[in-house]
Amino acid sequence: MPDLLSKPAGASGESAGHNTGAAPVRDENTGASTGPRARILVIDDEAAIRESLETLLAFEGFEVHTAPNGPEGLAKLEKVLFDLILLDVALPGQNGLEVLAQIQSIATVPVIMISAYATVEMAVRAMQSGARNFLQKPWNNEKLLADISSSIDAVRVEQENVQLKRALKQRYSFENLIGKSEVMLRIFDMVAQVAPSRSTVMLQGESGTGKELIAKALHASSTRANQPFVPVNGGGMPADLLESTLFGHVRGAFTGAIAPKKGLFEVADHGTLFLDEIGNMSLETQAKILRVLQDRRFMRLGGVEEIQVDVRVIAATNVDLQRLVAEGKFRDDLFYRLNVINIKLPALRERREDIPLLADFFLSRYANENGMSSRRLSPEALRLLIDYAWPGNVRELENVIERAVVLSTAPLIGPELLPESLAGGTPSSWKDWAPLLSERASASLFEIVEEFEKRLILDVLEQTHGRQTEAAERFQIPLSTLNQKIKRHGIDVKKVRGQDG
Ligand SMILES: Nc1ncnc2c1ncn2[C@@H]1O[C@H](COP(=O)(O)OP(=O)(O)OP(=O)(O)O)[C@@H](O)[C@H]1O
Ligand SMILES: [Mg+2]
Repeated sequence: MPDLLSKPAGASGESAGHNTGAAPVRDENTGASTGPRARILVIDDEAAIRESLETLLAFEGFEVHTAPNGPEGLAKLEKVLFDLILLDVALPGQNGLEVLAQIQSIATVPVIMISAYATVEMAVRAMQSGARNFLQKPWNNEKLLADISSSIDAVRVEQENVQLKRALKQRYSFENLIGKSEVMLRIFDMVAQVAPSRSTVMLQGESGTGKELIAKALHASSTRANQPFVPVNGGGMPADLLESTLFGHVRGAFTGAIAPKKGLFEVADHGTLFLDEIGNMSLETQAKILRVLQDRRFMRLGGVEEIQVDVRVIAATNVDLQRLVAEGKFRDDLFYRLNVINIKLPALRERREDIPLLADFFLSRYANENGMSSRRLSPEALRLLIDYAWPGNVRELENVIERAVVLSTAPLIGPELLPESLAGGTPSSWKDWAPLLSERASASLFEIVEEFEKRLILDVLEQTHGRQTEAAERFQIPLSTLNQKIKRHGIDVKKVRGQDG
């Protein structure tokens, strides 16, 4: 694909993103276009061709300008910002490919070339020189219009990506997402890149890592931003309630269904549906969701009428879905369908460089919210935050800061305003374990390692409230291996769970 974006946008000196949104935004269903009209320049020496293109394109809602030759076309290009150029290959006294090169030297605009004497070789050369497309005269109107729309849309998406990426690099934040670690910056890039598409996105990460926030950012930076963002948490609901929530029901579908009800798939039409905790849904519900994803249509519970929807689905889970697939608890076909784009959110302890930035962000958010003057952390307090293991990730950090801000009576926040668990909590580096180990100075290495392992497992089980699958994931070992270790160390999981309440 030609790199249309590395060049300046036009002689007017505006930035490459200037005509973002100039293309008519076409509704996938109706084909109707909304938004400002896209401008098209037709360069062709035959008056009849210019006229017929002008009629066709103007009828479709485009603003059309024409030029009979290269120089006149280029002169227009210097004055007007076009969204697309239709360029004849055989122009008097000049080769269309030369004109193409000149266009590219002054503007970033997609060019579709048209020729009566098309040869494969010429088409290849045109594409290699950066033309978006190559059509033969006489052209097919439908095909031409489709090519025009897709070229304009593709450029718009590319320009939006470039703008978003640029914005991301400047501030370490994006749609309320804070982070400067390499891994978060990569995620921001990814969000910017996939937001404009309709592809399903799967977000995986521990609780509190920001899955819902990312889902919102994907929605907010997509073309669906003005349409609804609808979150559904499949986690705790019984299957039939979840299904009537998702698909709605007709009157009399079940006892108590006294009135017909729209499901959230309908509510989210043209927008985004965020399916949270997807790992907990029953196999039957999974089958129904798969069907909507495949056919974009479904029926209300008890209904006979098919309802068509255009919904982008974003799914989130804090469990290892691939493992659930292997265990037969999650449909593999649905998994692949949802997993088109996969974004893994790292735990906060895996990106400690983000902690000060996030802490600052939450300090000013909560100082503002509470009408307080600005607050900052003492170096000791910050140290504690950086060293802590954050089992509840960003959500836990946010709560800790909110609490500290509310309790604070002066601008400087010291360790005394942080929960005790932070100070006496989990040693976060092996050095902190040294005192524990020296208690057993006479033990063999094997015994020390065993003791170390036992304490680590206990610790993580406490953090996961006794949930072994989550603990196994945290350790990146199979559940069966963790079970063996728990038995060997004589750990009483019930007791760990009990302590927690
Ligand atoms: N990168 C971030 N920048 C700023 N705030 C964040 C970030 N990540 C998470 N948060 C905040 O942390 C809290 C938890 O985030 P969110 O609800 O998105 O997590 P989650 O992964 O969906 O958690 P769960 O699995 O428990 O539902 C929210 O208040 C969110 O605004
Ligand atoms: Mg969530």
